[in-house]
Amino acid sequence: MGTLPGKGTTTISTKKDVAESVALIFGVTGLVGKEIANNLLAKSGWKVYGIARKPDFFTPIQHRNYRFISCDLLDPVQTVQKLSSLNGATHIFWVTWASQFPLDSSECCDQNKAMMSNALDAILPKAKALKHVSLQTGTKHYVSLSGPFDNTVRRYDEESPRVNEGHNFYYMLEDLLIEKLRGKVSWSVHRPGLILGSSHRTAFNFIGSLCIYGTICKHLHLPFVFGGARECWEEVYIDGSDARLVAEQHIWVSTNDNVSSTDGQAFNAVNGPSFTWKQIWPALAVKFGLQAAEDMFSQDFLFSTSMADKESVWEDIVVKEGLRPTKIGDLANWTFLDVLFRFPTKLLAARDKVDRLGFTMTYEMLDSILYWVDCIRDEKLIP
Ligand SMILES: NC(=O)c1ccc[n+]([C@@H]2O[C@H](COP(=O)([O-])OP(=O)(O)OC[C@H]3O[C@@H](n4cnc5c(N)ncnc54)[C@H](OP(=O)(O)O)[C@@H]3O)[C@@H](O)[C@H]2O)c1
Repeated sequence: MGTLPGKGTTTISTKKDVAESVALIFGVTGLVGKEIANNLLAKSGWKVYGIARKPDFFTPIQHRNYRFISCDLLDPVQTVQKLSSLNGATHIFWVTWASQFPLDSSECCDQNKAMMSNALDAILPKAKALKHVSLQTGTKHYVSLSGPFDNTVRRYDEESPRVNEGHNFYYMLEDLLIEKLRGKVSWSVHRPGLILGSSHRTAFNFIGSLCIYGTICKHLHLPFVFGGARECWEEVYIDGSDARLVAEQHIWVSTNDNVSSTDGQAFNAVNGPSFTWKQIWPALAVKFGLQAAEDMFSQDFLFSTSMADKESVWEDIVVKEGLRPTKIGDLANWTFLDVLFRFPTKLLAARDKVDRLGFTMTYEMLDSILYWVDCIRDEKLIP
């Protein structure tokens, strides 16, 4: 990872569009992909191509400068057919991943590497105007799920070393970018914590999971329990990353010569202020019209067990409330919640680098969550 030009100064000049910029957003229907697309299309001078396997059925982007391309990036032949004509690309945003295999498995690494390799092989030979590639990974860059776990309380900065244990596809993607770009195009990697956003094409969908859980609790008059480890409930444990902030940061770096470089720059992408779930949970209960009971914590409660038989309950709610047709699995991932609230180590990232360089956007965790719950309501995905 390179050293920033002008490191130590805080003056940032935002580049104005002089010529038309062309963005390719891989994962355009995901949590951050949607936000990047809408953000760019609200500016002048951007043409945006969004890539995913399926379109967004509920809230498709409709804009004269937008085109959706359906493409399975795991299929090399299809990827060349669909993407090799996009020779005017100036900016690439990689906010996608293949989630078929467990994180930290070699199969997950192989798939994600193949996906990016297929896309870059199709695009790079003709993309002579390419200025920047913006990769999204995450703060899991700093730990291995297979341990050993360092229990000293710390905030990882971007220069923290890679961990040797287990497999991490994030490392593979960074290394592949270095190999394919060969120091000729600037690139950056953005590392969010827990992403707060709205999408029904997301594997690890925190807000979607919360919304379905809260709605089912309300419908069945169940207590709104937090199931997890006590430290995770009571202590500052993880960072939230509002999808609006993560998208804005991708764009800020991609369009700003003062903070990007051809040897690659890493940036944590987190909200800022700390929080505990113990502070957040009662306000969430109220948001879903539930009672904020005295003790909402349970060490034994598993979302994946308690919600396992609720498919038909959700179908009833969808019909009764006149919601857009979804299955539980389109929005909720109970195993993800169980793992998240029992994560074996604290995972906190420093924001000093972006702060120092002048990226000022921050969010309070509760404000982020409540904003996205409202969005999901407005989209008629929950009552
Ligand atoms: N979710 C989180 O809380 C979180 C937190 C930290 C870091 N991250 C990291 O952020 C990165 C992006 O994850 P995300 O959660 O933001 O994405 P996401 O919301 O899960 O979106 C994934 C996007 O990729 C598309 N996609 C998946 N497989 C594809 C394929 N084979 N071909 C073409 N498109 C495909 C999906 O649409 P289709 O399914 O229709 O193709 C969707 O648009 C990952 O590296 C992830 O580990 C995520």
